Amino acid sequence: MRLTKKVMAMALASCMVLSMAACGGSQPAETTAAATEATTTAAEAEAEKSDEAETTAEAAAAAVEGKDPSEIKVGISIYQFADNFMTLYREELQRYLVEECGLKAENISIMDGKNDQGEQMNQIRNFITQGYDVMIINLVQASSEPTVTEECNAAGIPVVYINREPEAEREQAWVDEGIKATYVGADARQSGTFQGEEIAELDNKGDADGDGVVRYIMVQGDPENVDAQYRTEKSIEALTGAGVEVEELVKMRGDWDQTKGQEITANALSQHGAKIDVVFCNNDAMALGALQAIEAAGRTVNEDIYLVGVDALVEVVEHVMNDKMTGTVFNDYFGQAHTAADKALDFVNGKDVDNVYMVDYVKVTPENAGEILELIK
Ligand code: GAL
Repeated sequence: MRLTKKVMAMALASCMVLSMAACGGSQPAETTAAATEATTTAAEAEAEKSDEAETTAEAAAAAVEGKDPSEIKVGISIYQFADNFMTLYREELQRYLVEECGLKAENISIMDGKNDQGEQMNQIRNFITQGYDVMIINLVQASSEPTVTEECNAAGIPVVYINREPEAEREQAWVDEGIKATYVGADARQSGTFQGEEIAELDNKGDADGDGVVRYIMVQGDPENVDAQYRTEKSIEALTGAGVEVEELVKMRGDWDQTKGQEITANALSQHGAKIDVVFCNNDAMALGALQAIEAAGRTVNEDIYLVGVDALVEVVEHVMNDKMTGTVFNDYFGQAHTAADKALDFVNGKDVDNVYMVDYVKVTPENAGEILELIK
């Protein structure tokens, strides 16, 4: 019940038509394509809402045609358990598969890739040997996708890639070669643009010291990751597109990690001091580290410096509400986890699956932070 309310509220928050169907309803969640072409009327959504409120795990399971969900074995590997965002994602994925799709907990194996592609490859090969029906893989290195796909395809096991997007040409190759693989994620360009807009929409457009130039530091995730590349590029593009003159003072990789975010920001503050107007962080964990450094340096967010992240971790959304951080962007792990699970089960049940599903991001500013907090807490 609690989650149903959350999912409903999320649909409202993101102004999109969200699939109200239970697991295996085969309707995608809020993919961009589905969102733009959605034809579901408000009345239908209402009807589905009340339907879903009564849905039990058994009823949801029964709705899945094909293989009995209690017999489906899903192999999952997450690039690294020690990642705040992927922990939220992983927990929701597991909960959804068991509680809403009717899978047995013991038939879901979730492995920690430990940020080691070799280790993850062993996990994938074990899933193959043990005859898993489908895999959901958060690659350590997106560049390993061809090997993973080839081995899974040879074994007849479909793969749903999540979070770290393979090359676009590869996604097309799955279609051209009839390979059972898909990617479920979010378009990182959108999250970068939202970050830049959050700064551009401030009264002074981020020019904290009023000298006519917005000087910033960029705390990057793992730069092999398109999320890091696009957020870095698009946040600044949104700012310059709004007519703001910018200057980059520091750009460093923080690998999505809070401690590294703190160190990079502390060093930048001691080197460039009051010149820094904005701290852009590719994710919230690093932004939390940056906030520690900013406070330790005696600076005050939203007074003499601005700070934005991505993900919408609870702590960060609370900071946005309490004027301690400028903004963040909700990386919808509910939508992504549900779509990934739905598509995995669609593969198992022989249904058609597209090659890419994108879930929208949502801007988080003081205006809607309370609403977003309701959804994620
Ligand atoms: C991003 C997320 C980061 C980190 C990364 C891992 O989408 O914003 O916090 O989890 O994925 O690939």
